[in-house]
Amino acid sequence: MRLKEKLQQFTKEKRGLLATNYYNLETLHGVLRAASELNEPVILQLTQSSIDYMGLETAVKLGRASLEQFNVEGWIHLDHGGSVDLVQRCLDAGFDSVMIDGSELPFEENIKITQDVVQRAKAYGAHVEAELGYVAKLGQEHGAQGFTQPQEAKDFVEATGVDALAIAIGTAHGFYKQTPKLDIDLLKAIHEVTPSTLVLHGSSGVPHDQVQQAISNGICKVNLATEIKNIFMKTLQNELSNNDEIDLRKVFPKATSQVTDLVKTKLIMIKNYSDA
Ligand code: 13P
Ligand code: ZN
Ligand code: NA
Repeated sequence: MRLKEKLQQFTKEKRGLLATNYYNLETLHGVLRAASELNEPVILQLTQSSIDYMGLETAVKLGRASLEQFNVEGWIHLDHGGSVDLVQRCLDAGFDSVMIDGSELPFEENIKITQDVVQRAKAYGAHVEAELGYVAKLGQEHGAQGFTQPQEAKDFVEATGVDALAIAIGTAHGFYKQTPKLDIDLLKAIHEVTPSTLVLHGSSGVPHDQVQQAISNGICKVNLATEIKNIFMKTLQNELSNNDEIDLRKVFPKATSQVTDLVKTKLIMIKNYSDA
C-alpha cells in the first residue's frame, strides 16, 4: 500500500504508524526484526547526517533490501530535509516520502518551499511531509512560543496540498529535562481543521500515555530517533567496558537486540487504544 493511504487508514483507526531513524546496518536490522516479529509496518527515516554517513544510494538500497529480507511493509522517508536540492536528490534515489522542513522560515516562505516540493514529488508519486510550528532541534531551547496554530495549519495545508504535517504541541527532539506535557486540546483543534496526516516529532522521552492520547486525538506518524541511538550506544559502551573482543559480529548483536526490544515496546504502545 502507498504510504499516504496507509497513514489515512491508520488515522481513521486511531492507530499510530511508527517512523524510526536508522544510522547503520545494526540499527536498521534491530528495528526491522521488531516490525517483523510483530508483523507491523514501519517508516524508515534518514536524515541528511545519516545520508552523508552512509552515502545516499547505499542508505536507500540498504533500507529497501532489508525490508525485503525481514519481509516488512515499509517506506523510506527523508527526515527534516533542509533544502529543495536534497529533496530532489532523494526523489531521484527512489525515496517513497520526503520531508521539507521550513519550520524556521517565515510562514509565507515555508508555504513557498513546501509548494515547490509538493510539485516535484508529484512526478514521482512520492509522499510529502512539512513542518509548521517549532519543534526544538537537538540542543535548542524548549518553549511554548512556537506551538502550531490551528488557523495557520488549515491555511498552510490548503495552500500547499501537503500530505503530512509535523506540528508543535509540546514535544522536542532528544530527551527532556522535565517531563513534557503535550497540549492535547491544541492537537484536537488542529485535527478538526486539517485533512492532512499529523506527525509527532520528538517522541523520545515522551511518556507512553501521552503518546497514546495524542494518537487518540489525531496524531498518526510517530517519529522516534534518540531512544534508538541511546539504547544502541549505551549497550555497546557497556559491552566494551571490560571486554577486549575484536570480533564486532559478536559485540554488535547485543546492542541490535536491545533496539529490537525497544522498538517492540513502541510498536505495541502505539497499536490501538482508541479508548485511551
Ligand atoms: P526524538 O529524537 O526525540 O525521538 O525525535 C525524533 C524525530 O522527531 C525525528 O524526526
Ligand atoms: Zn523530527
Ligand atoms: Na524527544
